[in-house]
Amino acid sequence: MGKFNRYLITAALPYANGPVHIGHLAGCYLPADIYVRYLRAKKADVKFVCGSDEHGVPITIKAMKENVTPQDIVDKYHKIISDSFAAMGISFDIFARTSDPIHHQTASDFFLKMYNDGLFEEKETEQYFDPEKKVFLADRYIIGTCPKCGNDKAYGDQCERCGSSLSPDELINPHSALSDAVPIKKTTKHWYMPLQNYEPWLKEWLLEGHKEWKNNVYGQCKSWLDNGLQSRAMTRDSNWGIKVPLPDADGKVLYVWFDAPIGYISATKELTPDWADYWCKDDTKLVHFIGKDNIVFHCIIFPAMLKAHGNFVFPENVPANEFLNIEGEKVSTSRNWAVWINDYIQDFPDQQDILRYVLCSTAPETKDNDFTWKDFQDRNNNELVAIFGNFINRTMVLMHKLCGGKVPRLHEEFVEAADKDLVKEFTLSKEKIESSLENYRFREALAEVIDLARKGNQYLQKNEPWKLASAMERIKAGTADPLYTEKDLLMLQGKIDNCLYVCLQLTANLAIFINPFLPFTARKICHMVKVVDRMLEWENAGSDTLLKVGYTLRAPELLFKKVEDDQVKAQVEKLHAGLKKSAAEAAAAAPAPVAEEKAAAPAKPEIQFDDFAKLDLRVGTILSAEKVEKADKLLKLLIDIGTEQRTVVSGIAMHFKPEDIIGKQVTLVANLAPRKMRGIESQGMILMAEDNGKLIFVNPAEAVQPGSGVS
Ligand code: MF3
Ligand code: ZN
Repeated sequence: MGKFNRYLITAALPYANGPVHIGHLAGCYLPADIYVRYLRAKKADVKFVCGSDEHGVPITIKAMKENVTPQDIVDKYHKIISDSFAAMGISFDIFARTSDPIHHQTASDFFLKMYNDGLFEEKETEQYFDPEKKVFLADRYIIGTCPKCGNDKAYGDQCERCGSSLSPDELINPHSALSDAVPIKKTTKHWYMPLQNYEPWLKEWLLEGHKEWKNNVYGQCKSWLDNGLQSRAMTRDSNWGIKVPLPDADGKVLYVWFDAPIGYISATKELTPDWADYWCKDDTKLVHFIGKDNIVFHCIIFPAMLKAHGNFVFPENVPANEFLNIEGEKVSTSRNWAVWINDYIQDFPDQQDILRYVLCSTAPETKDNDFTWKDFQDRNNNELVAIFGNFINRTMVLMHKLCGGKVPRLHEEFVEAADKDLVKEFTLSKEKIESSLENYRFREALAEVIDLARKGNQYLQKNEPWKLASAMERIKAGTADPLYTEKDLLMLQGKIDNCLYVCLQLTANLAIFINPFLPFTARKICHMVKVVDRMLEWENAGSDTLLKVGYTLRAPELLFKKVEDDQVKAQVEKLHAGLKKSAAEAAAAAPAPVAEEKAAAPAKPEIQFDDFAKLDLRVGTILSAEKVEKADKLLKLLIDIGTEQRTVVSGIAMHFKPEDIIGKQVTLVANLAPRKMRGIESQGMILMAEDNGKLIFVNPAEAVQPGSGVS
């Protein structure tokens, strides 16, 4: 293991303001866990730390919304999150909390040391303040009209309609998202870290010293450093968080991005009295697993803090992943477009490894990637069931049938090249998997494991031990070619034994290789072949003597079962239902800040079925879209409804770029009387859902033939 004698592996501390979803898992917890399980199998000295991130503005806002205390919120989600991780087999050595006293002490001391060393700048600035709620407002919590596009629900940091970044000063009619009051400006003092002072060191340490980091990570860091760093406030006005440990600092807390990464240190302290070995000795390899939205904090700000403080090691790598989309759309926790881990565990009890498998094999390692339930089903059915599970199951069944339920012996005199070749593959795979894992290429490593199982299947298929067995039957029954003799019986049994011997040793190797990825499966295999978990130690991989000759093995149990179509359908429906539910909740929520837009549309009067049946609703595909001259809001669409093409003028130009919607399916009211708009005859109307000012096409969950009726 070269120059490192111990490992400290961290996974981003999740905010304790909601449950975790598969995007979190794929982004950092699963790769971190795979890496750690591999290191443990290599008997490395490794600590895996994480915990919940329990401070920050969103938590206070959520508490205010739900009329509970921030402590209530974090207590609730800390439990949900840690239970989800435990259920998925994410094997932290500790899952701490940033509300733990040991963390408050550690973060506070860290700040004070920097303060006493004169490393902060004190600055007074004017900040927005909500005079009703008596709190300072982060930019996000100021709402007003966008000066660029007129959206009256733009946030103080960004307009979500036109995408412009904004500052609260630019908003027209700004008001607080918490109370509706008009924010006033108030002077406030904060402690800033002059990040520009660390620029030369960062460039040398990171840009020069870590060219091996993943492109997505290195590139983002380079662009930050090329653009130049600025002072950044390390404190905030709030009552929730770690109090600034200075006199005259009432109502001031440490910035959540200052305290949270220190959480890695406090968690290690809580875990072991030897914590300083992991944090202060140069032969520690510190690796931060995170999602891409955390890159700047882990690669620039936290290292600068560690440098400023002194005495700490720096991360050796930060293998950040990109994002995982779901069914083609960005995960949105506020819109409830997510697959929650706690839901998955309920719906697929004892099938954690399928999700681990799918998330690892589609992990967004180099670019954003898409999770779909169909793909979940396909990968399970075609890879786990049909390749990996099938190989082990056939091996076990055949061993019981043809070798008396015992590990057969190897008959040297009948060994063939194919047997030796497959055994050689154990070692080759071991080397490939190691090198992939050590370079954080988890998908590649997992693909190699499956490939090895695939080779096992091919070997079985070629040797066909069941055919050898029936040849033996025929000899014994005297129905075989008379040229066969008793000696041939020995030879045939020898070949059967050899084949199953090799397959069983491969099974043991597969257990070792799959263990970091699918730990539950690895343990099931150990149980079947009656070995203790110690067999899973990495040094055993490559060996062809793992299972003892003559040893009686248990009956096979299926490692994986098929995911059925109706399960896929139910999950997709659940996803869409969740979206609807969250929209309804958002509309119904009383004085919900930020999300509060308007009362739910008043209910319309009751109608009869016949009223509804008068509508001719059809699905169409947008063939072309263009702006209508001198009409900001209008797009002219050409829509294919199978039997004909319709021109539709639609008031959606503020929401969509014409080039983005070509090819999309929409639902058209096809029998609406035509109407002229700006001189163009509009032959129908398309249905839209409105979600807090955002427009979304109403279309079928799956693509259908243009012209399909809707009823
Ligand atoms: N809570 C942050 C997030 O979910 C991650 C914090 S990582 C830490 O994006 F380093 F600050 F702990
Ligand atoms: Zn705008």
